[in-house]
Amino acid sequence: VLTAEDKANVKSAWDHIKGHEEAFGAEALCRMFDSEPVTKTYFGGKDISEESSYLHSHGKKVMCALTNAVAHIDNIEACLDKLSDTHAHELMVDPTNFPRLGHNILLVIGIHMPQLLTCAMHCSLDKFLCQVAEVLTSKYR
Ligand code: HEM
Repeated sequence: VLTAEDKANVKSAWDHIKGHEEAFGAEALCRMFDSEPVTKTYFGGKDISEESSYLHSHGKKVMCALTNAVAHIDNIEACLDKLSDTHAHELMVDPTNFPRLGHNILLVIGIHMPQLLTCAMHCSLDKFLCQVAEVLTSKYR
């Protein structure tokens, strides 16, 4: 459960992340594809190489969905409801993959904004990304 402090931390982190959605999203996806090759199987036929315009536009979509979730942090479930349906019923992404992407998003934040990622911030962002993963996999049941 996100505490009031977690929510404040995540919102303040996102003030810095805003504007970097495309670059951060693309790098996080790229790292996930390299470190967990099975995740590439959902993108068959797409050019997911590091510099591709597809990777960048998809990275931006993913991170902007998170920006929107941060803006509605008290109601993440409703905010991600449609995406949750899409991932469960249309894309059928194995639930084990959501924490994998979350992990890589956290890594990218830490790499590019090391001063931002204090222990407390690390913990709050991790909890937020876990909550997003939980919501996105809630429709599998
Ligand atoms: C599509 C967000 C995790 C695979 C999307 C879209 C968004 C999104 C916003 C576009 C939906 C649309 O255009 O209507 C997220 C978020 C995630 C997440 C916020 C977790 C933090 C994953 C994971 C995988 C995945 C872990 C697979 C390993 C896909 C695929 C598409 C998609 C295959 C369709 C891409 C396309 O047709 O171009 N996702 N996603 N997603 N997502 Fe996710």
